[in-house]
Amino acid sequence: MTSPLLPLPIDAFRDANGLAVFSSVDEAVAVLAPDEPVQCLYPERLQANARAFLDGFPGRVLYAVKSNPDRRVLQYLYRAGVRHFDVASLPEIELVRGLFPHARLSFMHPVKSRRAIAAAYRYGVKDFAVDSDGEILKIIEETNAARRVNLFVRLALPKGEAALNLSEKFGATPEEAVTLLRQARRLSAKLGLCFHVGSQCLSPEAYKEAIKLAREVIDQAGVKVDILDVGGGFPVAYPGQTPPPVDTFLAAIRATAEAHGFAGVELWCEPGRAIGATAGSILVKVEMRRGDRLYINDGTYGSLFDAGALGWRYPVRLIRARGPASETLRPFSFYGPTCDCIDVMKGPFYLPEDVQEGDWIEVANLGAYGFAMRTAFNGFYSDTTVAILPEDAASARARRSSAKTIRLHDRLAARAGRQATK
Ligand SMILES: Cc1ncc(COP(=O)(O)O)c(C=O)c1O
Repeated sequence: MTSPLLPLPIDAFRDANGLAVFSSVDEAVAVLAPDEPVQCLYPERLQANARAFLDGFPGRVLYAVKSNPDRRVLQYLYRAGVRHFDVASLPEIELVRGLFPHARLSFMHPVKSRRAIAAAYRYGVKDFAVDSDGEILKIIEETNAARRVNLFVRLALPKGEAALNLSEKFGATPEEAVTLLRQARRLSAKLGLCFHVGSQCLSPEAYKEAIKLAREVIDQAGVKVDILDVGGGFPVAYPGQTPPPVDTFLAAIRATAEAHGFAGVELWCEPGRAIGATAGSILVKVEMRRGDRLYINDGTYGSLFDAGALGWRYPVRLIRARGPASETLRPFSFYGPTCDCIDVMKGPFYLPEDVQEGDWIEVANLGAYGFAMRTAFNGFYSDTTVAILPEDAASARARRSSAKTIRLHDRLAARAGRQATK
């Protein structure tokens, strides 16, 4: 694990969250020459993605904390105007409540432990998702707050075009949802219906179909619903996956909700991937090349879980400290640092044909479900994060000199850490 930094005399060159700031990833390589993976956060992209939802969605926007719970990410989002968070566990609740005492937290995981429900309520959480009568019972017993909590019945959806189908695991069938809505209506302050079309959902049609199904289920239940929560699932462009822009999804949701009698109903959404993914990349180092295999210092047990387990490809870019690289690209596979045989990312990832040991690669679009899924398996875990804030040349020069100081400082901190453990 990386040693924590001592306070620096050059705070001006860290961002408000304490992250070292560089004007580009290339600059971070030139200054840090990192031996461990570095998470590169692009705050401007993060905030622009959040604002696209805050400005374009016809209702409330909840950030799905699970997609990237880094506190610096949460702080940037808060500054962009996000005030409502979809939380899935007690540690997520404690994290967000600790940072933002007045934020609204909604516990949208349909299966929660009794302890988590009771603690969440003490933290001021009133919104709870359910997909069974057993879960309703748990919530009412643990909060002792019938008619003071807001219950959201989670509806399962038919398999659509999403890359990850969450309805295989969660959600009530339409018949079950009718019964649950009637039950929940008696026990809720506000009653919600929620669904998730699946993560990385490539077509707006999925939201339209889900909203129509929600209407049918509500009509059949014959109850008043106060909130329709269309969940997350908004997609991102990865190599080989080119969805329509997010606006198209938001327009489809607005039009379908209006057309199906949801005009007087509050709309919510819970984006994770579409807010974080393009705002983060991981900088990895090539430790060994064997033909078209690149052995790198991050992998399936680190930020590249989806590249390994799901075979997803990500945009890649070579960064060489000295000298130019070939302009001819060829396909490579990545091999991660652990001893495990599933720590392989087939790709293909297209890089200059002369890529070699000691080069760095920036792997993009990992700001959601990349940083968040790192483990310390085999002792490989890097917690180094930097902010990438392109700025004018003068301030870049100033930042460069400050970054050198940071590097020197980090070395001193590491040395101090080593001496302390002797
Ligand atoms: C309940 C819930 N809401 C929101 C999300 C975020 O989904 P996405 O990152 O696809 O937008 C998830 C993802 O698993 C989820 O389970």
